[in-house]
Amino acid sequence: MKILGIESSCDDTSVAIIDSKKKILSNERVSQDDIHKDYKGIVPELAARNHVSQIDKITQRAFKKANISLDSIDIVSATAGPGLIGGLLVGLTFAKTIAQVKKIPFIAANHLEGHALTARLLENIKFPYLLLLISGGHSGLYFLKDINEYVYLGGTLDDAVGEAFDKVAKALELNFPGGPELEKLALKGNENAFKFPKPLVNKIDVNLDLSFSGLKSHVISLIRNNQINLKSNSFKQDIAASFQKTISLILVNKLEKAINFCNKKLLRYNNVVVSGGVASNAYLRKSLIKTIESKNKKPFIPPAKLCTDNGAMIAWAGFERYREGLVSPLDFKARPRWPLEEKI
Ligand code: KG4
Ligand code: ZN
Repeated sequence: MKILGIESSCDDTSVAIIDSKKKILSNERVSQDDIHKDYKGIVPELAARNHVSQIDKITQRAFKKANISLDSIDIVSATAGPGLIGGLLVGLTFAKTIAQVKKIPFIAANHLEGHALTARLLENIKFPYLLLLISGGHSGLYFLKDINEYVYLGGTLDDAVGEAFDKVAKALELNFPGGPELEKLALKGNENAFKFPKPLVNKIDVNLDLSFSGLKSHVISLIRNNQINLKSNSFKQDIAASFQKTISLILVNKLEKAINFCNKKLLRYNNVVVSGGVASNAYLRKSLIKTIESKNKKPFIPPAKLCTDNGAMIAWAGFERYREGLVSPLDFKARPRWPLEEKI
């Protein structure tokens, strides 16, 4: 079977074609970085308009790359949430139209489920597994028992990790999107130059919730109070490296606690998966892999370009649901808020 996947929930328009044997035939993506860079953040109205102007072109590109025609598509899947409503409506309407015209099944995919299941598209990873999802809009720990059987263990009470990266990068006057820029800057910095707070982290606490807004505000006020130092590269590099190290310590701490929690509950599983855009950060990947291995679990983190938003993950999530008989009605509404653990 061939599956068409459409992702338009944030600032990337991506269209992919995969087959049921897990071959990615195409995974085309156009980013809106140039459009949002002057604002150093995503402007929802501009994002929606740009999805409208790109979706047709990018779909044609995906078909050309895969070297097949629309007639070969058996299932169409599109992100229905969570995300920015304007973008969601573009992708959803596009996919529903194809489904109706071609009389093929339509799947409304959960964007977080796309990130969560990417590991199974790339490797033979069986349920259940533990997931740390770290993206620009979401950060959480989940125990995935089966398709549609996702247990929420804990997550951010305020900002997502990616959001904290982006806001600190903005204060450091880096280019948009800030996460990857901050990672580059951190390479040259001293990660022990500053000691930053680690909210909700202490040794005795077993809480699996996360919090990044206090850390973010602390770092941003330090930068604002030292504007003069922003001219110094080493100041900026040290802030970036110390911030990245603090994020790593927080995530490592919570992941260890989540593994301990699952062990205590006698849950049997082999794999710990990390996914979402922030998981493309090489420094974090290294520390998280080390942590998972030290707990005698098998780590899996998709390659960077499949950690960030892409159509292949939506095609795959659609196919996984289709296999379980979970086809969506054509009047399925876009859902700006849609927790992963909510059964549909
Ligand atoms: O998963 P994603 O592409 O979109 C959402 O679902 O949110 O994640 C985007 C987020 C952004 O906040 C971006 O700055 C962050 O992932 N990100 C990174 C890196 N690459 C992307 N953060 C830190 N280091 C990176 N290398
Ligand atoms: Zn995402």
